[in-house]
Amino acid sequence: MKKGDSRHASATLSTSRGNDNGEKMTLVLNTLEGDYSEQIKDLLAAKGSEVEIVNTAEMKIMHCAGCNICWLKTPGVCAIKDDYEIILKKLVVADGFWVVADTKFGFIDYRGKRVLDRLVPMLNMYIEIRDGWERHQLRYHPLNFGVIYKGNGNKELLEEWSERVAMNLGGHSLGVFALEESQTSANANGDVTETATPLPEHVVILNGSPRVKKNSNTNKIIDSFSEGLQEAGITHKLYSLSNRTEWDEAREAFMTNDNIIIALPLFVECLPSLLFEFLSTLPTERKQPAKLSFILHSGFDEGHQLRLGEKFLKTLAPQLGCSYGGTLVKGGSFMLRMRDNSYIKKMTDKMLATYASMGLSFAHNGNFLTTDAQKFTGSEQNPWLGRSLFNLVIYRIVKRNFDRFAKEWGCTRPLDDKPY
Ligand SMILES: Cc1cc2nc3c(=O)[nH]c(=O)nc-3n(C[C@H](O)[C@H](O)[C@H](O)COP(=O)(O)O)c2cc1C
Repeated sequence: MKKGDSRHASATLSTSRGNDNGEKMTLVLNTLEGDYSEQIKDLLAAKGSEVEIVNTAEMKIMHCAGCNICWLKTPGVCAIKDDYEIILKKLVVADGFWVVADTKFGFIDYRGKRVLDRLVPMLNMYIEIRDGWERHQLRYHPLNFGVIYKGNGNKELLEEWSERVAMNLGGHSLGVFALEESQTSANANGDVTETATPLPEHVVILNGSPRVKKNSNTNKIIDSFSEGLQEAGITHKLYSLSNRTEWDEAREAFMTNDNIIIALPLFVECLPSLLFEFLSTLPTERKQPAKLSFILHSGFDEGHQLRLGEKFLKTLAPQLGCSYGGTLVKGGSFMLRMRDNSYIKKMTDKMLATYASMGLSFAHNGNFLTTDAQKFTGSEQNPWLGRSLFNLVIYRIVKRNFDRFAKEWGCTRPLDDKPY
C-alpha cells in the first residue's frame, strides 16, 4: 500500500448509499494530526452506524477559492485538483459526516473549516425555499452533520453552527462533542464593553474573501464604502487576503493601526477558512488598543442568515485584543461580480450606493453600532407571500437566469448534474 493510503482505506466505494452491505455509513473527517481513531470511535460508539474515518491531515486539501466553477461550469466537480475529490465521492454514499477539528478563537480552526468550505459541490446553484428559508438545492441526498472538537471550543456557538450547516444539507445536527481533554469557553456571547476611541482619520481595511480581487464581491462593496470614507476626508489602505504576498504587510498594518475593518463574505455560515488561517497567524498580544469593525455580507438576502456569523465576530474582536466596533450585516451580494451585465449593474447600483452612505456614516460615528447600521440589514426573513410564491414562480425565473449564466461560462451539463 503506498504512503497515504490509510487516509481513505477502510471503505470500498459503492454506487448506492451506505457500505457494501447496504448499512448506514457515516464519514468522519478527522483534520487533527496524530492518531485519534480510538477516542473518536469511543465517542461515536453509541451512535449505531458504521463509521469510516478519513484522516485529512495526510491529504492535500486547499481552501475553497470561491470560483463558482463547481456550480456554473462543471456542475458538482470542483476546479481544484487535490485530494478533496476522494471526500466528495465518499459523501455521495454517506448518510452523514462528522468533522473532527482543533479549535481557534472558540471555533473550529482553519483546517477544519477548510473541509467544510469545500462542500459546496454537494449543493447545486438553484435556490429554493426549504423550511421557510432560502437554501441551495441538494445535489444528492440529505446529509446529517456533527462536530467533534479538541481544545477550547465555544460549544453553544458550535452547536448553533452545526444545526445551521446540517439544515443547509437537508439533514439534522448529530451534535457537538469535545474530545476528552477539551474545554468549553464560558462566554458564549462574547459581551464586550465599548471603549471610547477617537474618530478615524485613517482606516485599514482587510478583504477576507479568498476570491481574487477582480472577481470579489467584497471588493465591490469596499470600493463603494470607501467612496463614503473619502467624501468625509478619511484615508484608507486595503489589503486583499486572497493574495498571500500581501499577508506580511496586512499583519503589520493590523498590529500597528487603531482602526481596522475586516470585510468578508459569509462562507458556510461563518468565516472563510482562508481568513481564519490569516487571523491564526497574528501575534497574540497587541501593543496598542484598536477598534475592530466588520462588514459581513452573503449570497442569500435574508438578514437572519448572517446572524450566527455576526455573533461569532462579536466574540472575535476581543480575542484579537481589539474593542468591537460592530458589524455591518447585509445579504444579497452574490450578483455583484456580474456587474458587466447591464441589467445586473442597474439592480446592484442601489445596493452599492447604500454602502457608500454607510462609509460616510462610519466616518462620522467611528463604528457600526448605530441605528443606521442596524437598519441597513433590511428584512430578517422574506415575507410570507414571497416565500409562498418562491417555489411556485420565482424559482423558475431564477433558475432560467442561472442556466443562462452557466451557458455564458461554457457549461455543457445540467446545473443539477450528479457527476459521482
Ligand atoms: C464556499 C462558499 C460558502 C458560502 N456560504 C454561504 C452561506 O453560508 N450563506 C450565504 O448566504 N452565502 C454563502 N456564500 C455566498 C457568498 O457569501 C457570496 O457569494 C459573497 O458575495 C461572496 O463574496 P466574494 O466574491 O467577495 O467572495 C458562500 C460562497 C462560497 C463560495
